[in-house]
Amino acid sequence: MIKQARSLADLTDTEFSGKVVLITGASGGIGEAAALEFARRQAKVIMLVRSLERGKLARDRIWEKHPAADLHLVSADISLVKSVAAFCRGFSEPHIDILVNNAGIFGAPFELTKEGVESTLAANHLGHFVLTCMLLSKGQLSQGAKVILVTGAVYKRGNFEVSEWNNWTEESYKKMKAYSNSKLAVCLFALWLRSALRRLSSATAMVYAVHPGVVCTDIGRHVVRGCIAPCRPCLRCCMRCMMLSPRQGCKGILLRAADLETDSGKSGRYFNKCRSEPWHKPVLDSDLVTRCWDFSFKLVVQALGDSDDDVLNRLKKLRELPQDTLADLEEQN
Ligand SMILES: NC(=O)c1ccc[n+]([C@@H]2O[C@H](COP(=O)([O-])OP(=O)(O)OC[C@H]3O[C@@H](n4cnc5c(N)ncnc54)[C@H](OP(=O)(O)O)[C@@H]3O)[C@@H](O)[C@H]2O)c1
Repeated sequence: MIKQARSLADLTDTEFSGKVVLITGASGGIGEAAALEFARRQAKVIMLVRSLERGKLARDRIWEKHPAADLHLVSADISLVKSVAAFCRGFSEPHIDILVNNAGIFGAPFELTKEGVESTLAANHLGHFVLTCMLLSKGQLSQGAKVILVTGAVYKRGNFEVSEWNNWTEESYKKMKAYSNSKLAVCLFALWLRSALRRLSSATAMVYAVHPGVVCTDIGRHVVRGCIAPCRPCLRCCMRCMMLSPRQGCKGILLRAADLETDSGKSGRYFNKCRSEPWHKPVLDSDLVTRCWDFSFKLVVQALGDSDDDVLNRLKKLRELPQDTLADLEEQN
């Protein structure tokens, strides 16, 4: 029986030695905390950030604590398909051992990206969909890779009518629903990726969907701003007291990355922080998984137009991969 780490203290100082970690949204919050924890355990950490300025500040904060940390900054706006596609074109790291799709937003006012996609869906799901598919297609996620998709427990409250996800108007927009939809999309993509990794990488490549817990980060900035000014310091103080710290919040990610589990039957599971939890039953629907993939592809086509045949051709090839049934995950439920 393999002994699994249960806390960050169980991980050794050289736990990730020789491993290459790519982590999105590493300029703050859970992503920065995870980058620090990986780097202090000797991983080479590639921090994907939208703003190089904020990325440098985060990198300096980590270097202050761990001067030997092997950190590399790269940039892309994960909410824009074209930006992610350009990043992937120039990204030549031959093998990513651990991919953490972490960047995200919550509670933002209604906005469409310049590619016509609702901004929460674009940042939390669509950009990561393109990033992961491109790395997979280019063979950069191979033998033994671990992909950790940061989701949220609210995925259960998403709208299961996938085709409606981008139908918002200023008047109809519901922030919480849009966030739940984006996290449902992340979960359905995890289930698709399970089969794709088995077919293209190896039986030892694993994907996990992880809810980090309720963590005190900057993600609540829109909620705080929605409060009248005098109440804001009090609200921030309550958040700090009641919520997990970013270090505690990145624990579920680190433990999955260090997981010695290589049985691909365990891939595709959902973790609430560090514990495996049954999937919300309606998610385990192969047709729904395919509908989510097709919907995401349609948005990519809308975003790229005729401008990037390479991305579209690679995605079309991935679409042809046979999908495994979800029966074994149903049994684990
Ligand atoms: N905190 C919680 O309670 C909680 C609960 C459940 C799930 N989560 C999930 O955990 C993940 C991390 O959130 P957090 O709490 O650490 O939030 P955070 O402190 O706001 O950090 C979010 C990170 O994502 C980056 N990001 C946002 N939009 C981006 C874009 N378009 N392109 C590239 N990077 C972008 C941000 O970069 P900038 O510095 O440029 O803004 C920042 O580095 C998110 O996926 C979130 O949904 C959080």
